[in-house]
Amino acid sequence: MAYSAEKAAAFAYQGHAGSVKNKDEKAAIHQIELDEWNHRREVLAMMNKYEVPVSRYYEFRFHVIGKIISTACYVIGWFMPFYFAGRLESGNVCEYFRMMHFFHELNIREHDQVLYEMGIKEKEHEVYFYEQIKNSKALPFFEKIFSWGGKRSFNDVDLESKYSLEASDAYCKK
Ligand SMILES: [Fe+2]
Ligand SMILES: [Fe+2]
Repeated sequence: MAYSAEKAAAFAYQGHAGSVKNKDEKAAIHQIELDEWNHRREVLAMMNKYEVPVSRYYEFRFHVIGKIISTACYVIGWFMPFYFAGRLESGNVCEYFRMMHFFHELNIREHDQVLYEMGIKEKEHEVYFYEQIKNSKALPFFEKIFSWGGKRSFNDVDLESKYSLEASDAYCKK
């Protein structure tokens, strides 16, 4: 699912980057799209190693979802694509740390570095999107309804004082 969801995210960011007018925003969102394609490659490498097949169902489903979000970015205004991207990224952070926990249960530590980097990268994405909308008047309302914003996040990673790779097992335990 992570493999296919990364594709949905990458498609969504194509539409998002295409729909914003500001050059810096366009470039930053395009970079995030490239990061997601990168994650997809990393996840595929792990799947191949353990002979986990790609799900044709998820590939189709997330293809459609990604394209719908991509198109929606052109019609739902400036704020919402940033808000929901940040909210989604917030939830993605722990996916990779949880994957690390599962590997640790099997005493497999060789993927720690890659999973750590992917988890931290998703956090950087979350922070980027939050920074763009943090002063927006719509944020308090959206934060109340959708449970993400300045005071609420779906992970316990703090980039200002982030744990080392070795200590990062402590993330996302709750
Ligand atoms: Fe990603
Ligand atoms: Fe991301």
